[in-house]
Amino acid sequence: MDAVEIKPDVYWVGAIDWAIRDFHGYITPRGSTYNNYLVLDENITLLDAVKHDFVDVSISRIKSLTDPRRIKNIVINHIEPDHASGLDEIMKLTSQATIYCTEKGKKGLERFFDTSEWNIKVVKTGDELNIGKRTLLFIETPMLHWPDSMMTYIKEDKILVSQDGFGQHLASSQRFDDEFIRCASMFELEDAVWDYYANILMPFGSLIKQKIAEIGKLGLQIDIIAPDHGVVWRENPEKVIQMYLDMANGKAEERAVIIYDTMWHSTEKMAQAIMEGVRAEGVDCKVLKLRATSTSVAVKEFWRARGCLVGSPTLNNGIFPYVGEFLIYLKGLRPKNRIVSAFGSYGWGGGAVKEILESFKNMKLETVEPGLGVNYKASKEDEKRCYEFGRQFAERLKEYHKRF
Ligand code: FEO
Repeated sequence: MDAVEIKPDVYWVGAIDWAIRDFHGYITPRGSTYNNYLVLDENITLLDAVKHDFVDVSISRIKSLTDPRRIKNIVINHIEPDHASGLDEIMKLTSQATIYCTEKGKKGLERFFDTSEWNIKVVKTGDELNIGKRTLLFIETPMLHWPDSMMTYIKEDKILVSQDGFGQHLASSQRFDDEFIRCASMFELEDAVWDYYANILMPFGSLIKQKIAEIGKLGLQIDIIAPDHGVVWRENPEKVIQMYLDMANGKAEERAVIIYDTMWHSTEKMAQAIMEGVRAEGVDCKVLKLRATSTSVAVKEFWRARGCLVGSPTLNNGIFPYVGEFLIYLKGLRPKNRIVSAFGSYGWGGGAVKEILESFKNMKLETVEPGLGVNYKASKEDEKRCYEFGRQFAERLKEYHKRF
């Protein structure tokens, strides 16, 4: 694939990673892309590098447009290796270029690379760089996704290069949102946004709201959002901004998800009966077995739904390990505004249900207690209890959902 023009003289020169399925532990069934952008102005400017494994691909796209030695400026919006680890190879070709990044970006680059020969200039929010016919405006976005992060606004083209923000782990031969929607669907694109937000940005909802408000106050008109992962938003930039605001405000669908694992199918049998109870209240419900579902997908489904029921058998007086892994990952993402409960089978002492509820209380989620335990295997009577437990949970979910 050639370089792709985004606006006259502004090109995508990134790489598509069709094969990646494990992105530092985040399972990415759709693959990903590492986007970077080249602006052909009087002072040729590259925005972001790419992952080192893919830098040759990016360099060949750059070479199809210009001699890389002519690059005068390199903006590093984010130093995480998926965006910056190819920088040393690019600097070998264009050692005279000046690098622009935040203060924390500079410190990070100094840890990742030998920067002694590099000219690095620190920028902060509001700083501008004239590159000829265009001016770049820098906006720091600390913690979206790392402390070093920033975005770059190309004023004359009204393009916001948003690094991780508004991205999707989505490998596709389409570079733009409208093209992707025509070839696949808006639902799939939205699902990729939910997935990315849930796994990467869920803890930073308040910062996202602040940053979007700050960009609003700067009065920037945004025609195009060009993230460093996934498709470029040229038809629906407002839609993805609204999606982010909604997610940051705790938006969820009025439905439930049951996330469980099982040893001898007893907890699994409970999950089925609970699901039927939930659905009896007119609330849609997905059922996910953790050993058949990656934690990343489970977290995304957790985040899309207003309510979640987690099921675990008791093992060694506590939570089954697959369920424990899910809860540890979820805790780090600091979820909010969800109603939850727990269920599971036990042989003698029990303990998993109580531990799951404790974990949810520590996350400050709305818990429905005391959950539900079943000894060894659910009898017909127990199945009725499970159904009723699911039905009552759905009732509570519908009430809770009205708050948002
Ligand atoms: Fe896509 Fe925070 O790196």
